[in-house]
Amino acid sequence: MTEQPATLGGAPAVTIDQAHYSQWPIYTEEEAQVAADLIRNHALSSAIDGPGPITELERRVADTWGVQHAIAHSSGTTALHTALFGVGVVPGDEVITQSAVHPFNCLPIIGCGAVPIFADIDPLTTTLDPADVERKITPRTRAIMVVHWKGIPADMDAIMDIARRHGLKVVEDNAVSQGTTHRGRMLGTIGDASAISFQDGKLTSAGEGGVFMTDSDEVFQRAATLGHYERLKELPDPKWRAVSGFSFGEKYRMATITAAIGVVQMKHWRKRLDVRHANAAKLGRAIAEIDGFSVPDYPDYFPSPYQSGRILFHPDRLGGISRDRLIEALNAEGANVRSPARRDSRIPHTDGLWRMLHKHPVFTGNEHGTEDILWEVLGPNATKIDYKDVVLPVTEDPEIPYDTIELPSFTRPADDLIDQYAKAFDKVATHAHRLTATRA
Ligand SMILES: Cc1ncc(COP(=O)(O)O)c(C=O)c1O
Repeated sequence: MTEQPATLGGAPAVTIDQAHYSQWPIYTEEEAQVAADLIRNHALSSAIDGPGPITELERRVADTWGVQHAIAHSSGTTALHTALFGVGVVPGDEVITQSAVHPFNCLPIIGCGAVPIFADIDPLTTTLDPADVERKITPRTRAIMVVHWKGIPADMDAIMDIARRHGLKVVEDNAVSQGTTHRGRMLGTIGDASAISFQDGKLTSAGEGGVFMTDSDEVFQRAATLGHYERLKELPDPKWRAVSGFSFGEKYRMATITAAIGVVQMKHWRKRLDVRHANAAKLGRAIAEIDGFSVPDYPDYFPSPYQSGRILFHPDRLGGISRDRLIEALNAEGANVRSPARRDSRIPHTDGLWRMLHKHPVFTGNEHGTEDILWEVLGPNATKIDYKDVVLPVTEDPEIPYDTIELPSFTRPADDLIDQYAKAFDKVATHAHRLTATRA
């Protein structure tokens, strides 16, 4: 007989202090030392000439991803802007992307003077639905910006096939899926260009920052002219080299202190990622052994997600329990689970970010005619579209992904904690019928 669930007065199953296991990023004396050295040496600014933390970080990222070119940036968002500029997005173009994440994939599109076109998402992976991407193509479409979401890649076979058939470029927003593969290839190396983020919540972290990457010499050279005036004199193509001493964009380079911290992080990165991955696999397996839960049946083009794994629950085997009630009961047990369906009607969300971008007043307007702001900012090159007509049934469904809950990611070996999580799920499953009966 399992113990009483915590929501019915029992003791919580998870008693281990989880702060240590959830700590991210993991900074040590090593980061403090390199930062202090830069300050002592008055080396906080760099013109990129010669060796230094910025070139070192770029080399480490290029080697890790196996790409020809990497450029360190002030943020993931600026690196995405560079990627779009590098593949040739110009004012008035349309770029297809998804609406349901954060604004960050969309802002660089507008930064290029291009029009964001929102396509729907796949209900299981919550990444771009290739069929809807193809429906959204017009003669003005220049590029597709895919977002790989927390270790779940977009369907890159289908996206690349569409891009090839229609002569489009593909930019991968890989800000939150660093290290994940798609059919064995690192995400960020499949499209024409990509960007990762080094903001603290991401799998590569150094406070703030981002890295643009590409295998194409042409994309790299064009990209470098956006905000990296100091490195243009080395470019092989005289056309792009001629921009030297000038730039087509603002200064986008990373601070040396960020790069130095990033270099230390990259030394330990693969090992730390493997720990997260092993924990995610163990946790998923342990919960899936309990009647009423299973691992979602993801496409076979990628290993299981490990930034925030998801588990599927089966209400028919759990007394008809709702997602909210299940999360409430597990939270009471001390299990830090949450809903991955964060595109609900309560927008903007508590953090102030809009996760259904096509519903934002910038696009849909309000009584003050706000939507005109977008067309004012984009100028006469942009062909106006009416975002009020944009309907994205899957994106707008507040239950998507159906019957799944999001699991935490443990950053240090966590076998005992995983055992306690399994116990929490087991208690809740055993008493699920009582939990639904006592629903307030
Ligand atoms: C999907 C996605 N793309 C891009 C970014 C932007 O990265 P940064 O915060 O480094 O600008 C974020 C940040 O949260 C993100 O979640």
